[in-house]
Amino acid sequence: MTDIKHEIRSPEPRLTVNNVFRSFRKLKALKDVSLQIDEGQIHVLLGHNGAGKTTLIRILLGLIRPDSGTVRVFGEDPWRNRSREGIRRRLGVLFEPDALYEDISAWENLEFFARIHRLELAKWQSEATEMLKQIGLFDRCHERVVKWSAGMKRKLSIMRALQHHPQLVILDEPTAGLDVQSRGRVRDTIHQFRNRNTTFLIASQDMSEVQRLATHVTLLREGRALYSGTIAGFYAAARLRRFHGAVDAVQRLTGQLPPGIELVREEADLLGAAVVLRICTEDGLESLRPQGLVETPVLMEDIYLELDR
Ligand SMILES: Nc1ncnc2c1ncn2[C@@H]1O[C@H](COP(=O)(O)OP(=O)(O)OP(=O)(O)O)[C@@H](O)[C@H]1O
Ligand SMILES: [Mg+2]
Repeated sequence: MTDIKHEIRSPEPRLTVNNVFRSFRKLKALKDVSLQIDEGQIHVLLGHNGAGKTTLIRILLGLIRPDSGTVRVFGEDPWRNRSREGIRRRLGVLFEPDALYEDISAWENLEFFARIHRLELAKWQSEATEMLKQIGLFDRCHERVVKWSAGMKRKLSIMRALQHHPQLVILDEPTAGLDVQSRGRVRDTIHQFRNRNTTFLIASQDMSEVQRLATHVTLLREGRALYSGTIAGFYAAARLRRFHGAVDAVQRLTGQLPPGIELVREEADLLGAAVVLRICTEDGLESLRPQGLVETPVLMEDIYLELDR
């Protein structure tokens, strides 16, 4: 007989953080942070420099302890289990981007880590070849890593984090400093792995990463989580649209806002002006036809202001 209880039970979250506080002397790096990451999510941990992203990742990896609150990775306390091999195998990590051996080739680096994870070498070889081609590193994979650019090393480190097919992958700013094409390739790789049920936590300062990658987001500001949940909820919570154009076009728009649309702020720049609007009702949205303006993505600062009100 099948175990019905087992079948309908929702899977255990990959990761939970409950009311975590962490200070470094007087500096409060994390203040009452909670979040949950379930299987299959691409969860972006979004925040500017110093928001607390890396501190949270260090806690999740069992490198430091929270002052209070609880953290579970695969249902277990990462601090207590930090040296257990079982967890390491289920985790893929990009934390220090250049944790590579520079005096050997990229291929040898990958093979070294494949052996540590006891991967079946014939299968690994064909997968590694395919992945190196996709990420744009194949042609130079037999060169010593010391000759590689920072971006190439970063992409190799991402491959290293993924190649043993971990269930949960934690990447600290994987695309920072990469060119546009490389960012695209890294995002494609992440999407492919997600389709095979890999779960991701990705720290980023880049709103466009949220727009292009995330299923879920936690927005950290100065150690506090202003929002944690789905992307749809994130944008709904913010209810903002941003438009850009000539100063007179922006003035025309702000001078005749329909009911249900409020002006949040206007700012001038070298090319004209930008306006951020709060959309309170969908009706208002329908009647809004800004002439001569282009809609541009909302910025993290826009959302801060809105969620922090
Ligand atoms: N070991 C440490 N000792 C003292 N202060 C620290 C330490 N680690 C982090 N901090 C402080 O905690 C705060 C959060 O830092 P953290 O590195 O977590 O931010 P972040 O969001 O990862 O920023 P970035 O985008 O710059 O990487 C910062 O003010 C930082 O100076
Ligand atoms: Mg950081």
